[in-house]
Amino acid sequence: MRKLIVGNWKMNGSLAALAELDPIERAAQSRGDVDVAVAVPATLIAPAAVRVPSLTIGAQDVHQLANGAHTGCVSAVMVVEAGARMTIVGHSERRTDQAETDDIVRGKAVAAHAAGLNVVLCVGETSDQRDYGTAEVIVTAQLAASFPAEADPAWLTIAYEPLWAIGTGRVPAINEISDMHRAIRRELTNLMGPSGTAMRILYGGSVSPDNAANILAAADVDGLLVGGASLKAATFVPIIDALAR
Ligand code: PGA
Repeated sequence: MRKLIVGNWKMNGSLAALAELDPIERAAQSRGDVDVAVAVPATLIAPAAVRVPSLTIGAQDVHQLANGAHTGCVSAVMVVEAGARMTIVGHSERRTDQAETDDIVRGKAVAAHAAGLNVVLCVGETSDQRDYGTAEVIVTAQLAASFPAEADPAWLTIAYEPLWAIGTGRVPAINEISDMHRAIRRELTNLMGPSGTAMRILYGGSVSPDNAANILAAADVDGLLVGGASLKAATFVPIIDALAR
């Protein structure tokens, strides 16, 4: 399966910071074996899409409706018009900070697909859930409940992001990542039949130039979702190049 590397700038970046995308675009162009996308803040989608036209620019979230009285929200149709070609939905920071439920996340994935976006749908467990031994049950239940009925590997990707690994520098053991990705793979085939084997499953949480190659080599890991290390070309380009190592 072709690997996918997605950067997530979160609430970081500026017009000046878009210069980081130039070497990232060149790295993505020079590698024929990997797909690359960067999800920037909504205000940076249009200038980023103009600056690096061959790089896939994405949103970090979209509203589940196309328009209406929802002050402060941005719809999938709007980010498409700005130049986005993909979006993240269901990131744990939104599930936690904005109290997004599985139903809402599913609605966002459906709306994003309807607008023509590719979608990265995030799931993950807390450290307590892992300590209690319930991580796989929690993550597969979250996946089933957020999973859109019309899901297809052509536009939907799953990202496994343990909450305790995000921004902490703590990364699960490689066998823990593979075990969870296998559990997600099983759940995908339960949910959608044989085509579930073709859906990409990314790992996210404290991915760095040092650990990217090992994680990418793990069974059932089809790519990476990268936060902090995607902000600078100096750390993101080596992650894009990690496949070659
Ligand atoms: P991190 O974030 O790479 O900074 O840990 C990953 C994410 O939340 O997508």
